[in-house]
Amino acid sequence: MSLETELRDLAREIAIEAGALAHRRRREGVTIAERKSSLADIVTEADREVELLVRERIAAARPDDGVLGEEGGTERGSSDVLWVVDPIDGTVNYAQGMPSWGVSIAAVTGGESLSAWTALAGVVRAPALGETYAAARGEGSVVEVDGTTSRLAVAAEHPAGALLATGFGYDPRTHAGDIETVRRVMPIARDVRRIGAASVDLAYVAAGRLDGYFERGLKPWDVAAGALIVEEAAGAVRELPADAFGRIMTIAGSAGLVDEIAGLVL
Ligand code: IPD
Repeated sequence: MSLETELRDLAREIAIEAGALAHRRRREGVTIAERKSSLADIVTEADREVELLVRERIAAARPDDGVLGEEGGTERGSSDVLWVVDPIDGTVNYAQGMPSWGVSIAAVTGGESLSAWTALAGVVRAPALGETYAAARGEGSVVEVDGTTSRLAVAAEHPAGALLATGFGYDPRTHAGDIETVRRVMPIARDVRRIGAASVDLAYVAAGRLDGYFERGLKPWDVAAGALIVEEAAGAVRELPADAFGRIMTIAGSAGLVDEIAGLVL
């Protein structure tokens, strides 16, 4: 078994266990632990508990690897492998009782950002949707639903216009610019979705449910697993230079659509 496949299988096992814990905590009721960059930017007790579980499982299986997690920061390891973890991506959906949230776990090497690392494996587990998306570098992407595993491929054509998704950061100062970006992209869109979890947006692009996705200001843990899942589904993910607020633009879709969106948002 290759290292990539081994890491994907471990990420899958941990993401399913972590997702079950998050799902159970959701049913018991959500407690907001902290507000981060703004009133809208929340952390639940479950985010913290789930990240601790993921860190424990990684440490038990691969004690030499490093971990970069949304809630706990970076713990460096002595191996070349860094795990990039969002325990609950789509925290606001999770807190509000909406199903689009996921546990996102990736194993990367060579850096701590999308432009610097090579992703080896990635899994997005969306417990409330009953779906597990997984990829290993060079092995393709799959989704598992109700025990059935299917290969993923991005949508190649969108004759009715591209079905796109985007997101808006938590900083109110950036909203006007993000709305302007949507206005610029609208001419090629069939419609636009705001799903509320970057990892799920990326998984949907890989599955061809969405044609494309663009958002400014994503963090490494939002994109690590989902970007590999898109690339391994024959799609492309590109980053554009940061805006005045320091937010990098991430664009995903087929290579042609990524070019089109990049030309419109610049
Ligand atoms: C957020 C979600 C959201 C995106 C934000 C992310 P979080 O992650 O992915 O869709 O618009 O930029 O920060 O905070 O729920 O883990």
